[in-house]
Amino acid sequence: MTALTSLYLPLLLLSLPFLSLSQLPPLPSPSPSPLPSPSIHLSPFNSRLADAFIAFEAWKHVITSDPQNITHNWCGPFVCNYTGVYCAPAPDDPYILTVAGIDLNHHNIMGMLPYHLSLLRDLTLLHLNSNRFHGEIPASLSNLTLLFEIDLSNNHFSGKFPLVFLSLPKLKYLDIRFNNFSGDIPSQVFDTSIDAFFINNNKFSFSLPPNFVNSTASVLVLANNGLSGCLPKNLGAMKKTLNELLLINSNISSCIPEDVGTLDQLTVLDLSYNNLVGTVPESIGKMKNLQVLDLSHNTLTGEIPEIVCELPSLKNLTYSDNYFLYEPEPCLKVKQLNDSENCIYWRPHQRPEEECIDFLHRPPAHCDANGCIAQLPPPPPPPHW
Ligand SMILES: *[C@@H]1O[C@H](CO)[C@@H](O)[C@H](O)[C@H]1NC(C)=O
Ligand SMILES: *[C@@H]1O[C@H](CO)[C@@H](O)[C@H](O)[C@H]1NC(C)=O
Ligand SMILES: *[C@@H]1O[C@H](CO)[C@@H](O)[C@H](O)[C@H]1NC(C)=O
Ligand SMILES: *[C@@H]1O[C@H](CO)[C@@H](O)[C@H](O)[C@H]1NC(C)=O
Ligand SMILES: *[C@@H]1O[C@H](CO)[C@@H](O)[C@H](O)[C@H]1NC(C)=O
Ligand SMILES: *[C@@H]1O[C@H](CO)[C@@H](O)[C@H](O)[C@H]1NC(C)=O
Ligand SMILES: *[C@@H]1O[C@H](CO)[C@@H](O)[C@H](O)[C@H]1NC(C)=O
Ligand SMILES: *[C@@H]1O[C@H](CO)[C@@H](O)[C@H](O)[C@H]1NC(C)=O
Repeated sequence: MTALTSLYLPLLLLSLPFLSLSQLPPLPSPSPSPLPSPSIHLSPFNSRLADAFIAFEAWKHVITSDPQNITHNWCGPFVCNYTGVYCAPAPDDPYILTVAGIDLNHHNIMGMLPYHLSLLRDLTLLHLNSNRFHGEIPASLSNLTLLFEIDLSNNHFSGKFPLVFLSLPKLKYLDIRFNNFSGDIPSQVFDTSIDAFFINNNKFSFSLPPNFVNSTASVLVLANNGLSGCLPKNLGAMKKTLNELLLINSNISSCIPEDVGTLDQLTVLDLSYNNLVGTVPESIGKMKNLQVLDLSHNTLTGEIPEIVCELPSLKNLTYSDNYFLYEPEPCLKVKQLNDSENCIYWRPHQRPEEECIDFLHRPPAHCDANGCIAQLPPPPPPPHW
């Protein structure tokens, strides 16, 4: 019998595979697999397991390919013996065995998620990373009120952001990166208690809502989506909780708000491949836990503040492909530095001089009170002849 008594402990959160570097992995790393615990002697028959049997029968019907034969033993009423299924005593009744977790990571299974998955009412963990599941996420999952960790990454799921995720009171870890989701991100998601939020590499198109800064997540990875709009001016509101913020390739058009420097728990800040303008705020020099700062591929200019390069934990500083003009000495001492394709004439691999002169003749960028790029006044009307 495969059982898992520790599944309901909040300690699970400590094992989450948080990104520690700004490089997004080409494929998501496997989430930790639950460890089987010593066998326990509970009856293999009860109404919850009977419901679970219905759920797995329904699931088998919508699995169309299972190249590794993972579901070959998904037969018979004792679902706790199925590969990938983990049972544990029910949290509300230690004398009843129930399905607590499903871990089918990396099996290349093709299929959908059935409506009847909602019958697994005690499920805390659903790991389906790296398969070929497609279709939408059934709204019936709102019944899974104990769900704590959902990893659907690297599949072919589509449709809008599943609103059902907003109704799961215990949800802490939500990973839907590398799928085909599209449309808006409902702003309410930033008012939930989700702690790790990975939506990168989908087809979402949205802008950061005003309540973005309400988020109490420690990891926010929104990269490689059709995000747009501005960085909120009051980013520092997330100071107590935010550890990693990755907004790579998100078409964000704004200045870097001064307030970002308040985020002194932040270890990774990656704003590369956006349309950021203006200069780098001195306040970044106050982010004493910062290890990785990537500002590359933007339209930033001016000088890198010396105090930023002197940050004690900084080990990877990338600001290539901007229009920086000066670079203080200490920056050259950062372990991993990429300052190429700028206008720092005494450094190698800079932009051609004409490009830099051209840039300096453009009107300087300004941001408005909201931190967005201020609209330039319309050009004067052409003269009349
Ligand atoms: C579950 O599997 C174990 C080991 O294969 C077996 O001994 C046990 O009888 C099975 N339990 C049920 C209820 O089928
Ligand atoms: C899976 O099972 C089918 C028949 O049930 C068999 O033909 C095939 O070789 C099995 N594949 C693997 C990878 O075990
Ligand atoms: C959801 O749970 C309720 C109460 O536990 C149950 O009556 C209902 O059938 C469930 N709905 C689904 C879709 O499983
Ligand atoms: C993603 O969705 C688009 C339509 O929005 C579809 O054309 C495409 O085939 C889907 N890709 C995958 C990998 O599911
Ligand atoms: C979240 O932010 C919005 C807009 O900034 C604010 O009006 C609201 O009160 C905040 N909600 C919570 C729960 O803090
Ligand atoms: C990027 O944002 C600008 C406006 O800020 C918009 O005009 C443009 O279409 C966006 N590009 C993409 C690829 O979404
Ligand atoms: C440093 O950051 C850059 C850009 O984010 C990345 O490409 C590079 O792999 C990182 N270097 C190390 C050693 O982690
Ligand atoms: C530094 O950035 C430039 C421009 O983006 C890139 O071509 C180069 O490969 C980078 N160098 C390193 C060592 O990563």
